[in-house]
Amino acid sequence: MTRVVILISGRGSNMASLLAASDSGALPAKIVAVIANRPDAQGLLTAAARGVATGVVDHRLFAEREQFDSALAAAIEVFAPDLVVLAGFMRILGADFVRRFDGRLINIHPSLLPAFPGLHTHRRALAEGVRIHGCTVHFVTADLDHGPVIIQAAVPVLDGDDEDLLAARVLAQEHVIYPQAVRWFAEGRLRVHAGRVLLESAPDGAGVLIAPLPDPCPPC
Ligand code: GRF
Repeated sequence: MTRVVILISGRGSNMASLLAASDSGALPAKIVAVIANRPDAQGLLTAAARGVATGVVDHRLFAEREQFDSALAAAIEVFAPDLVVLAGFMRILGADFVRRFDGRLINIHPSLLPAFPGLHTHRRALAEGVRIHGCTVHFVTADLDHGPVIIQAAVPVLDGDDEDLLAARVLAQEHVIYPQAVRWFAEGRLRVHAGRVLLESAPDGAGVLIAPLPDPCPPC
């Protein structure tokens, strides 16, 4: 069984979707711990209520980023994970940390990367007037929000959308694609070749893009 440690900073709805998938038997993976960089991260309560081990490595207690990264890595290693999942983890991790967990560190980002790396993705998508937005699960590299893409989901940007409406539409898809990505990892189906993810048993890439119809579907 693949051992998974999840890192969070706040609400933890993606974490909750992974816990639910794991509890339902849909994931050949066990969430062995949830670790936050903030003691007040709401998701810690959700995880603890489900009987998952929790921990906090408070970034504010470290003068240097490298010290925080080392303490965080040590806290993670206690649980001997096969996979480390960033789920709304709002700290940039340094190159040493990323190297240490190379190939077993994944992130979810609320945009169709490589569009809109960084913060405020929904606001920026609205400001640019794009018609398609979405979310991406990718392997983490030292290059922020640029690692090899595992799966993406697209959503329409509708007239009348504001940041909250668009964020909610994207978040619903995040809760679909993150469990899917973890499932593929746990099944040993992901290979990275030349900076691209190859999904074994799906040579045509079937399944790696989810594009639900808008609701309500406009006349096509
Ligand atoms: C999600 O939109 C995620 O993509 C982004 O931060 C948000 C975290 O939400 N990185 P939650 O904590 O999982 O509810």
